Amino acid sequence: RKRGLTSALSNQRDGGMDRDTIIRLLYSLGSKHEVERYLRIFTQSSQAGATGAVLPEAKFAVLKIGGAILTNELDDLALSLSFLNRLGLYPIVLHGAGPQLNEILEAEGVVPDYEDGIRITDAKTLAVARRVFLQENLKLTTALERLGTRARPIPTGVFTAEYLNKEKYGLVGKITSVNKAPIEAAIRAGCLPILTSLAENAEGQILNVNADIAAGELARVLEPMKIVYLNEKGGLFHGVTGKKISTINLDEEYDALMKESWVKFGTKLKIREIKELLDTLPRTSSVAIISTDMLQKELFTDAGAGTLIRRGYKLYK
Ligand code: ARG
Repeated sequence: RKRGLTSALSNQRDGGMDRDTIIRLLYSLGSKHEVERYLRIFTQSSQAGATGAVLPEAKFAVLKIGGAILTNELDDLALSLSFLNRLGLYPIVLHGAGPQLNEILEAEGVVPDYEDGIRITDAKTLAVARRVFLQENLKLTTALERLGTRARPIPTGVFTAEYLNKEKYGLVGKITSVNKAPIEAAIRAGCLPILTSLAENAEGQILNVNADIAAGELARVLEPMKIVYLNEKGGLFHGVTGKKISTINLDEEYDALMKESWVKFGTKLKIREIKELLDTLPRTSSVAIISTDMLQKELFTDAGAGTLIRRGYKLYK
């Protein structure tokens, strides 16, 4: 079931794949012209000329990885990330661990509980969450290092938060600030930064934060070209036709989209959050929702492979 690109990379293991070899592999995805164009765009975003407040290499992409991917597609994920890194890019990875956490909680007799899509987090749940986050984080960094890609676990120390609503949700945080220093230090040392969404408050109490929201807060600070949500479905699907939505141009389509009868609950919330995020970012930033095995195609071709969400038509200069 493995696509050509990933298997070619996995055959090489460490060292074997240089930048030129990878670029040649990319040509199998689209025309040489478009691949080179996106390569240039993403590499430039990672070089001087950027605003200066953020290390240029940190401005390529924030990648949010759902917990299920770490269980079901760990090797493909590590290959994809290695591949980007061999191109000279430093995606900033933030992962969840929801399914793993639920499994352990249930085995220990705790029933996972949600309110408005937010996990009610008591002391016991947080203790297990910290353990599981660390374990999943090490799993990914280890898989990357095995491929010769340096990676640095950053399980805490980035997000400061206050209680979202202690009475209602327990030990859940609302992010108040983002410390990008550990991320930039990792990149300067040549490592991919691998983050969890755990935060802490002014008293040093660890608080649980939804990983999608944490990825958004990270993007507000770093202002990356791409915010990528990796999911197993590989995009956003139209509720009536069942077809994958290729592009959403928010300027033109947002109001009508939010009125569609099939856009409700989680989907509505997600689209609204993405719009609010993109409204605060440069117009050149965009969101991609894509599966692990299609990530390269999404990034390096015009047509992409998943769902692209942007403010308007003018994406790149
Ligand atoms: N490769 C370009 C990018 O990463 C375009 C992707 C288009 N994707 C789509 N699903 N329509 O921004």
